[in-house]
Amino acid sequence: MRKSTNEALATLEPSGIRRFSALAAQTPGCIALALGEPEFDSPTSVREGAKSALDLGQTHYPPNNGTDELRRALSVYMARQGVSYAPDEVIATVGATEALAAAFAALLNPGDEVVIPTPAFGLYQSLVVMNHATPVYLDTAPFAFQLDEEALSACVTPRTKALVITSPNNPTGCVLAPASLDAVVNVARAHGIYVVCDDVYNRLVYEPGYERLAARVDKDLREQVVVVESFSKPWAMTGWRMGWVAAAHPVIDQIAKAHQFTVSSAVSFCMPAAARALEFDPSHQLDTYRARRDRVLAQLAYMGLPVVEPAGAFYAFPRVEQTGLSSNEFCERAIREAGVALVPGTCFNAPGYVRLSYCIADDDLDEGLRRLGSFVAGL
Ligand SMILES: Cc1ncc(COP(=O)(O)O)c(C=O)c1O
Repeated sequence: MRKSTNEALATLEPSGIRRFSALAAQTPGCIALALGEPEFDSPTSVREGAKSALDLGQTHYPPNNGTDELRRALSVYMARQGVSYAPDEVIATVGATEALAAAFAALLNPGDEVVIPTPAFGLYQSLVVMNHATPVYLDTAPFAFQLDEEALSACVTPRTKALVITSPNNPTGCVLAPASLDAVVNVARAHGIYVVCDDVYNRLVYEPGYERLAARVDKDLREQVVVVESFSKPWAMTGWRMGWVAAAHPVIDQIAKAHQFTVSSAVSFCMPAAARALEFDPSHQLDTYRARRDRVLAQLAYMGLPVVEPAGAFYAFPRVEQTGLSSNEFCERAIREAGVALVPGTCFNAPGYVRLSYCIADDDLDEGLRRLGSFVAGL
């Protein structure tokens, strides 16, 4: 008889986000407020960068951790954002997805626990489980999606290895306030645990006062922090599959091995293109996203769906449990009955909510909100 496959992996389902997007795609005329993918094109200079790299024959194996040029550029770019890593502390990865996969593979032993504040991007749970470790969820809803030090400490056991933070957050769009970052620093210091900072949305912030944990760490805490970033969201480069991970030695050396053993390297001709992206200021998009966010908030208020005001990313995460529907029922019926697709909170370990993504053209967003409004009114 055939032996079992990886039993931890077998417990996981494919991403629910894709399932709801597929359902939307099968529904003619459906407006998808479901995917976290900017509708802009990648900058022209970036596309030109890849073309000239191809013309120059840069199609061979690149160095595993990325070209020196790109690693230097990443180090300089991070320094401009107040985050200090030398080029040899940075690895170019296949998106933030692979950066996170390599980081968890490097950090975790079977039986370790990882604290995941929820609502959370589902990938963390999958990666933790794939590494035969255990996710420990901290529900941040009672704290308006902030981190309370007492609640965070209560999640820590002798088995806790790491904590993940995402600011701005997917799916809530909320940014962690300084007091939440204090809580993370205090708990990490007290217990020696790693903090994985998923900062893929750090360039998409609409309010002043945003602070990153990565910009705060001192010499002592540096070895416990892993920073993950991506080209996908700020430069609309989702299809390029380019991201990076930064950490101090010796942690980055372990991550480098996990990276080498799984993908060997990111794609050679994407590297010079990515270096060009770092010179391209994406902040002109902020006005567009901020205006859309404001329209979304006004419409949600009109519909009577409560929401914690997002300060970044391109998501809002309203509560829908008061409609009497579960978040899955709400989303399935919204697609079928109103032709508008959202993602249920269950995909983020937060039932009772839905994620609305507003990285979609203005006209479609307006029509999607109109359909959502009539759907909610008819419940
Ligand atoms: C919070 C978060 N982290 C990581 C990723 C993965 O990004 P990438 O496209 O760089 O793999 C996403 C993508 O949606 C995300 O929302």
